[in-house]
Amino acid sequence: MSYEKYKVKWFNDYPAIIDLAKKAKKRIPHVAWEYLQSGTGDEDLIERNRAAFQKITFLPQFCKGALAPTIETTLFGQKYAAPFGVAPVGLTGLMWPRVEHYLAATANRYQIPYTLSTVATETPETVGQHIGNMGWFQLYPPKEKDLRQAILKRAKDAGFHTLLVTADVPMPSRRERTKRAGLKMPPQITPKMIWEGITHPAWTIATLRNGLPRLRTVEAYATHTNMKFVSNMVGNRLGGTLSWEYCQLLKEEWDGPVVLKGILHPKDAERAVATGMDGIVVSNHAGRQFNGATTSIDALPAIVKAVGGKTKILFDSGVRTGLDIMRALSLGADFVLLGRGFVYGVAALGKYGGDHVTEILMDDLKNNMVQLGVENLGQLTEL
Ligand SMILES: Cc1cc2nc3c(=O)[nH]c(=O)nc-3n(C[C@H](O)[C@H](O)[C@H](O)COP(=O)(O)O)c2cc1C
Repeated sequence: MSYEKYKVKWFNDYPAIIDLAKKAKKRIPHVAWEYLQSGTGDEDLIERNRAAFQKITFLPQFCKGALAPTIETTLFGQKYAAPFGVAPVGLTGLMWPRVEHYLAATANRYQIPYTLSTVATETPETVGQHIGNMGWFQLYPPKEKDLRQAILKRAKDAGFHTLLVTADVPMPSRRERTKRAGLKMPPQITPKMIWEGITHPAWTIATLRNGLPRLRTVEAYATHTNMKFVSNMVGNRLGGTLSWEYCQLLKEEWDGPVVLKGILHPKDAERAVATGMDGIVVSNHAGRQFNGATTSIDALPAIVKAVGGKTKILFDSGVRTGLDIMRALSLGADFVLLGRGFVYGVAALGKYGGDHVTEILMDDLKNNMVQLGVENLGQLTEL
């Protein structure tokens, strides 16, 4: 069985990522949906992230004959079939069991990168079996050297070659929506949860088969696997650690590209270059950390002006379409990541949901390039 079997039907029923989000919402328990969607405060940054894209428009050019758009790109010396990939998402298994395995396999099939989060629910060892040469690993920086080196070694040994270190979580944010929904670690068997289980049978069966979501990578370093204990350990040992000196250490310890994720200020971008970072991700963490932040697409041009050509500029937060990807690339981003979009795919359609998201994005990107009148990604910045 493969995605090809479902492709035509899915393109009719769910031609856009927004349709997958609607289906995902019905298929997964309320608490999982609220966790996935959550921002912080009154969450206006999530809406601003989307609205800011819509303000970026183009002047198309025509009469160029038949255009055959190509979207392959090279990043850090490696070829990718498209200029986008999967951003790290933590506690992934709450939305759908084994999301990480499915999306890693999608990434390998389509030759786009997949980033495994430190706080994902599956380990580098098991995800590594699906990822081929497409593995990136995201680090929430541990305070202790031994812990850092142990996690990095596991990621490297499992085949992950590019390291993203997250800068924009100086402490956990409030995530009021997640709290209101009653997310508890470990998930607790309450009458409400039982009702959620009954009303979302596909999720419940898949979860019973796989076991309740656990932070399987980091639990190895806790003295016992009680989820509350592991969550506290994550808060105490991985939080508030990052400094420029720490970034430099990572650069020395990691044999491969190191990318700093969550940059919005051009001065931080310049500092990242001075510290030797191979890339930065312009991101506001999908609006989940600081509701007062600018949208990442509004932050992008000044960062490109400051460090374009000196380091690779990756971009995320609010991307839902191929057109959004084109907008970010046209403003000077080298590569684009999506978090929620890919999770919607698996939550809505299961194992091949990530394939469907990838096909939608590839198709939409190519189509919009032709509507605009360009054939390759380089032309997007020469308009
Ligand atoms: C549910 C969820 C969990 C996330 N977990 C992590 C994480 O563990 N590490 C990290 O660096 N970023 C994390 N992010 C941020 C994403 O990597 C990415 O920056 C963001 O999702 C991009 O925005 P988008 O979801 O609108 O595409 C998470 C985002 C979401 C939605």
